[in-house]
Amino acid sequence: MNDREKTMLSQEKNDALTKVGPETPGGQVLRQYWIPAALTEEVSGERRIAPVTLLGEKLVLFRNDEGALGLIDRRCPHRGVDLCYGRLEDNGLRCPFHGWNFGVDGQCLEQPGEPEGSTAFEKIKAPSYPVVEKNGIVFAYLGSGDAPEFPNFDCFRAPEGHVFSFKGHWNCNWLQALEVGIDPVHASFLHRFLEDEDPSDQYGKQFRDTAADTNIPITAVLRDYPRPDIHVDKTEYGLRLTTLRHLDNGMTHVRVTNQVFPCAITIPMSSTMNITQWHVPIDDENCFWFTMFTSFEAPVDKEKMRAQRVSENTGDDYRPKRNASNEYGFDAAEQATLTYTGMGTDINVHDQWAVESQGTIRDRRLEHLATSDKAIGAHRQLMRQAMNRLEAGEGLANFLSDLPPRDVTGPVALDAVAVTDDHEALWREKDGERRAACAWDAVL
Ligand code: FES
Ligand SMILES: [Fe+2]
Repeated sequence: MNDREKTMLSQEKNDALTKVGPETPGGQVLRQYWIPAALTEEVSGERRIAPVTLLGEKLVLFRNDEGALGLIDRRCPHRGVDLCYGRLEDNGLRCPFHGWNFGVDGQCLEQPGEPEGSTAFEKIKAPSYPVVEKNGIVFAYLGSGDAPEFPNFDCFRAPEGHVFSFKGHWNCNWLQALEVGIDPVHASFLHRFLEDEDPSDQYGKQFRDTAADTNIPITAVLRDYPRPDIHVDKTEYGLRLTTLRHLDNGMTHVRVTNQVFPCAITIPMSSTMNITQWHVPIDDENCFWFTMFTSFEAPVDKEKMRAQRVSENTGDDYRPKRNASNEYGFDAAEQATLTYTGMGTDINVHDQWAVESQGTIRDRRLEHLATSDKAIGAHRQLMRQAMNRLEAGEGLANFLSDLPPRDVTGPVALDAVAVTDDHEALWREKDGERRAACAWDAVL
C-alpha cells in the first residue's frame, strides 16, 4: 500500500463518516450527544414556533404559554400536515387542520372535533426529543435512552451576559465544515491579510489582535510563519491541537485550539474571547455553524455583535449574503492588494468558500492528506472508534474519559508567546492568569 492509499477513503468509509440519518453509523454517533437545534431568539417574541431540520429529521420547536420548550415531529400524527404552521394555544401547539393540540412532550392534549367525552387523544403522542437552553442556544438530544449530562465548558458556565450566540447556514456536509476548523495551516493562507489592520478596530473579529505580550499582529505571525509544528493530543473532550510558530526573534508563538467531539471546535478569537462552534448537520448536504462567543473579561456587546453578523445575512434566514451564486463577492483587485482570497475581510466567508466549493459532500477518494492535516486524520479515527463501539453494543458514556461530565472543563484555547519550547507550561500559565483575572470564573 502506498502513502496515498493509506490516507484516501473508500466510498463506504466516506459515507459512514458523512451521512447523518438515524440508521447511519455516523448519524448514530452524533445522536449520542447534545447538539444545537436552534437559537433561543428563534423561539422568543410573538411567534415562538421554529422549523428545525436536524440530522435529516424534520421537527418543530415551540415554546408554550409557560415558557417550556418542545421539540416534536413536524408531521401532525393525525393526517400529517406541517405543524410549523400551528397555533400556540392552551399551553400547546395546535394543528390548524382539525385543531388537535400537542404539549411540549408531544402528548396530544385535545381533539376538539371528536365526540364529546372522547378520550382517544390520550393514546396519541407525537415523537419528541429533550431540549435544554444554554446561553442563547437550544440543545437537543436525538438519541435513545437517557441523555448524557452536559460537560462543564466555559461557554456553558459563563454568565449569560458574557456569551453571544449566533448561527449561519453553509451548503455542505457537516464534516468538511468541521475539518476547516481543525486545520491550523489554513489560517496562514486562506485568512491571510496582505496588510495588517488597526487592532483598535478588532472587536468581534478573529485574528485582529496582537500576539500575547508583543506588538506583533497575529495576522503578521500567521502570514510570515506558514509552516508550523502541529501537535495533536487526545483529551477527555476530544483533541487538543498545539500549533507552534518559531519566530525570528527566538520566541515561539503557541496557539491552542480544540476539537470537541464529535462536531465542535473551541478556538481563541482574541486575547479575551473564545469561540465554541458546533458544525451541525441539517441533512447530508447542509449544515449550520452555531457559535458561542465567550468573554473572559467584560460582558459581550450583544447588539454590536448581532448587528455585525446580521449585516452579513440575506435576511432573517441565517443565510450568508456572499455565497456561490455571487462568487462569494470575489474581487481580483482586492486579491492582489488586500486579502489572499479576494473575498472581503470577514473570515467566515473565506471558510464558507473553502468548505462549500469542495462540493456538498467531499469525495474523499480523491483527497491527498498532508502533514498539516494530522488533526483531521485523528478526528476521523475517533469517529470510527465511536462507530465501532456503538456497533458492538457499547455506549459512548466513557468513550473519551472516565471523568464525570462536570469535571470536563475548559477547553483551554489561547494564543501565547514563549521564550522556551515548554509550550505546555506556557499555555497553562497564561490560562491560569486569564482565569485569575476573570470575574465570573472566580465566582462560579
Ligand atoms: S392533521 Fe393535524 S389535526 Fe388533523
Ligand atoms: Fe478558518
